[in-house]
Amino acid sequence: MIMAQPIISTKNLFAGYNETAILDDISIDIYENEITVILGVSGCGKTTLLKNLIGLMKPTKGMIEILGRDMIFIEEDEYNRLMRNVGVLFQGGALLNSIPISNNVAIPLEQHTNLPFHLIDQIVRLKLSLVGLEHAYDFLPSQLSGGMRKRAALARAIALDPAILFADEPSAGLDPVTASALDNLLLSLREQLGMTLVIVTHEVSSIRRVADKIIYMDKGKVLFNGGLEEALASDIPPLQKFFSV
Ligand SMILES: Nc1ncnc2c1ncn2[C@@H]1O[C@H](COP(=O)(O)OP(=O)(O)OP(=O)(O)O)[C@@H](O)[C@H]1O
Ligand SMILES: [Mg+2]
Repeated sequence: MIMAQPIISTKNLFAGYNETAILDDISIDIYENEITVILGVSGCGKTTLLKNLIGLMKPTKGMIEILGRDMIFIEEDEYNRLMRNVGVLFQGGALLNSIPISNNVAIPLEQHTNLPFHLIDQIVRLKLSLVGLEHAYDFLPSQLSGGMRKRAALARAIALDPAILFADEPSAGLDPVTASALDNLLLSLREQLGMTLVIVTHEVSSIRRVADKIIYMDKGKVLFNGGLEEALASDIPPLQKFFSV
């Protein structure tokens, strides 16, 4: 049998802020075309793990590989090329408030391609329509609701059709109808564009709908890493408690 190669891999990863250690010996493999959900109580280190995976933080020890590249020793040019293939939806959205939604979505296209304006504009309109925001093209972020801002940030994160999408709580604070539409969008990114998705979320209904794999974190450690069904049936107490709420 041929074993699939992980698209993201960490080995014995330790990381933190200044003197405070947060990530404690994390070794995970994430596979292509799967939706992996990172779970765990507030403050356990989920966002910190994402920041290390995408190179926004340098770990204190350990190895990270994304799309076959070593993220610790990567040169700046290669890092920038690699990040073309990586979309990130930050917790809270992080849109630029002074420019319209259309310009926000265009940022990665302007940074990473030499496409002429009319093509960039076509892609921006396409991505906005994917997230149901074609009418918000000229709006400023402040003119959008919280859920709309999330979706606009998602449109920006997928502007370049990345191979990997990291999304930190994409559906937090959304009403159930909008949240389920967002889940369908995430599933279609995987099915139609072949994206690999790494999502942080607490929404159990959303996890049941979209997750292939679960990584459960507790105080900077990985307590569980496996399939959704296995996670649902797990007798690890915090995991059991999480799914029974
Ligand atoms: N910039 C920072 N400087 C110092 N400590 C930080 C910083 N960001 C996070 N921390 C600390 O790191 C720990 C993990 O934070 P992190 O943001 O990774 O948690 P999380 O699992 O994403 O939580 P949440 O579900 O609330 O988003 C927390 O104790 C937090 O106080
Ligand atoms: Mg977080």
